[in-house]
Amino acid sequence: MANLAVFASGTGSNFVALADDLAESAHSLVVLVTDKQNAPAVERAAERSIPVFSAQYKGREREAAERDILAELERRGCDLVALAGFMRILTPTLIDGFPGPIVNIPPSLLPRHPGIGAIEKSYHSGDTELGITIHYVDHGVDTGPVILQRSFKRDEVADLTAAEARIHALEHRWYPTVVRDLLDHIALGQIRQGATQ
Ligand code: GAR
Repeated sequence: MANLAVFASGTGSNFVALADDLAESAHSLVVLVTDKQNAPAVERAAERSIPVFSAQYKGREREAAERDILAELERRGCDLVALAGFMRILTPTLIDGFPGPIVNIPPSLLPRHPGIGAIEKSYHSGDTELGITIHYVDHGVDTGPVILQRSFKRDEVADLTAAEARIHALEHRWYPTVVRDLLDHIALGQIRQGATQ
């Protein structure tokens, strides 16, 4: 078995999808890391008795907050980090300091529309395909190696709300699948520390 940490700042619907999937596996979601103590994701974790680590970013260098996070990840024996709507950009302190893979799920078809507001940007861009990307995190913003993309045609949705719902449905369908597959490979020793692909 292998141990997952999820980082989230908001609603936590992807955190819930991952937690509920892993509850039926040999792996464990051992901690929710958040920068927002009052985020709905924190309540979702409490409902599932999953520990929460609230990182203190306010008034500090990002690196200081990340060193605290790294200590928590080590203490919990985390093998994999899954970002799920964590709205802080990670610095090399965390990216290079964590020995396992870090994955992310931006709601766009990278390299289109990296960064914040990706669903709105995609919807209003005139792109004929909208979708999601799951990728390994590197030092850029949404630039790391792609693991999987899933898409749908823009004409299949009536408006922005429908596009958002469709994107979230894709996230909830595919993030648990990819994360569980990575955890399986880690447990079998098939992913070496620090690997990004
Ligand atoms: C998700 O749509 C995820 O793709 C996006 O935040 C949302 C979190 O929703 N991530 C980013 O925009 C990262 N830049 P959730 O809190 O309900 O999982």
